Amino acid sequence: MRSENWFVGVLVTLAMGLAAVAAVSGSPDNGEKAGFEGFDSLDEATVSENWKRYFPAQYEGWTRTAEMVETMYGGGGKAEAEDMEIEKINYLEMYPFLIVNYDGFPFSKGYYRSRGHYHALNDVIDTERLPDWDVRPASCIGCKTTDVTKLTAIHGDDWYSMPFSKVVGTNTIGCLDCHAADDATVRHARDWLDEGMAHGTFANIDPEGRTDLVCAQCHTNYHFHAETRKIVLPWTTGLTVEAQLEHYDADRRSDEWVHPQTGALVAKIQHPEYELFHEGQEVNVHSMLGLQCTDCHMPKATGSDGEKYTEHHWTSPLTHVESTCMGCHSNWGEEGVVARSEGVQGRVYKKQNRIGRELADFIEAVGAVRENGGVDEATMTRLQQIHREAQFYWDFIWVENSNGFHNWAEAHRVLDKAEALIKEGMDVLDGV
Ligand code: HEC
Ligand code: HEC
Ligand code: HEC
Ligand code: HEC
Repeated sequence: MRSENWFVGVLVTLAMGLAAVAAVSGSPDNGEKAGFEGFDSLDEATVSENWKRYFPAQYEGWTRTAEMVETMYGGGGKAEAEDMEIEKINYLEMYPFLIVNYDGFPFSKGYYRSRGHYHALNDVIDTERLPDWDVRPASCIGCKTTDVTKLTAIHGDDWYSMPFSKVVGTNTIGCLDCHAADDATVRHARDWLDEGMAHGTFANIDPEGRTDLVCAQCHTNYHFHAETRKIVLPWTTGLTVEAQLEHYDADRRSDEWVHPQTGALVAKIQHPEYELFHEGQEVNVHSMLGLQCTDCHMPKATGSDGEKYTEHHWTSPLTHVESTCMGCHSNWGEEGVVARSEGVQGRVYKKQNRIGRELADFIEAVGAVRENGGVDEATMTRLQQIHREAQFYWDFIWVENSNGFHNWAEAHRVLDKAEALIKEGMDVLDGV
């Protein structure tokens, strides 16, 4: 009896000692400084600054997303923006064909290179693309702020249709978007992702339980629900570009508009990084090997205190190939990896811009025959259908932010399809 008590006593002392060590130095795996016991309120957890005292290394990385990083193609073609401030690379000036292709849609009014998470909220507040605050859709902040969890807790899904001015706050994308407020575990917070996944249409990967679902909350194509204005992932029949076109064909979607020159109903695609990397008819070697977004964009690092943590500076992996790529590509050398990646990107970059211009020429040619009435209705309908599909395929790759790196084989396949359609359309025009 006595010896048993003694034994239990030692165990308790040991356990307390371990807990004390953990509270002081943090468990070696998570860079935790002060003992984190969860936040008392959602208000507190919503503000990323409040996480700083517990997790300084991760917080510090997060603040560095304020810095702009230069690479050859980072952000969609820095290569041709030599005379522009990196903070405001104006796509409409760099690629004038966009003004034709997006004619009649807000992207023809203002379209700048994307930036780091730190700027996300300010960029949606400042955009020239969206109407005044009282009519601007509230749903636009869905991918820009940690406030979404709080808004949903208070209003349910009703906030999506509230005025922008009523929902906009001061917190950009932050900790609460990917971590639970009570124990900081990694988890996604957007239920539209669960709704998208519920279609069960992933073909190449099993999305259940993946770490990189935190990225799939925002780095996907989407549109708004016609009535509720909630974000919808167009994954009803699949995630490939063909499957998504099928989804758009099934019903009129919020991001579709009638192009003023051709009269075709066209759709605006938005940043399908998750879809291009993991899905597609052409399989991506990096996804097939089991790599996730986080493996390349959130490498492991070691702090000055010798503790390991996960880098939270989301940026171009080409700025840190030693920690992300060399495990597999050491035979190419660091410069070799960057050069090969730029080679892969350069071929997609050239093609997507060439086809962007061809599409603009086609649109203007259709617009001209439409204006002078020189074509019968059936032919015009065929031309409009070609415009719709070609634009869908081209835009899917053009707006994807890696310039083909995320799945170059699929990028070429989809762009080639767009180009073949445009050629077919030009042939039809030649015959009239
Ligand atoms: C976009 C999603 C995302 C955001 C935003 C985010 N994290 Fe993380 N965090 C992750 C992922 C992914 C991991 C790594 C999980 C793994 O590898 O198992 C991680 C890991 C961690 C860990 C575990 C220890 C480690 O470094 O691996 C801590 C602590 C942490 N994050 C704190 C924070 C803090 C503090 C913030 C806000 C300043 C934050 N995170 C913002 C996705 C995110
Ligand atoms: C095999 C490594 C790898 C994986 C995995 C990966 N990426 Fe990337 N990503 C890259 C590279 C390389 C670039 C090109 C960077 C450049 O052009 O400088 C890039 C570019 C990007 C960009 C544009 C960055 C910029 O500077 O313009 C975004 C956004 C992005 N990736 C998100 C994701 C998401 C989301 C996933 C998961 C679906 C993912 N990435 C998976 C390597 C990877
Ligand atoms: C809550 C929404 C959200 C989540 C979650 C999210 N992102 Fe982002 N991400 C954005 C937005 C919005 C931008 C563009 C911000 C801007 O332009 O102001 C962006 C920009 C980026 C960029 C920089 C692009 C550039 O041109 O510099 C990278 C890289 C990136 N994200 C990677 C990731 C990865 C990897 C994950 C998952 C670990 C992730 N993001 C999770 C919304 C999100
Ligand atoms: C898990 C291992 C692994 C990691 C990590 C990895 N790769 Fe790869 N990568 C491969 C394999 C395998 C291939 C296909 C075979 C080959 O081309 O050597 C490949 C192919 C490539 C290619 C195509 C080369 C060509 O010319 O066709 C490029 C470019 C590339 N990787 C760049 C990167 C970059 C950049 C990173 C880091 C951000 C990275 N890889 C991380 C395994 C990996």
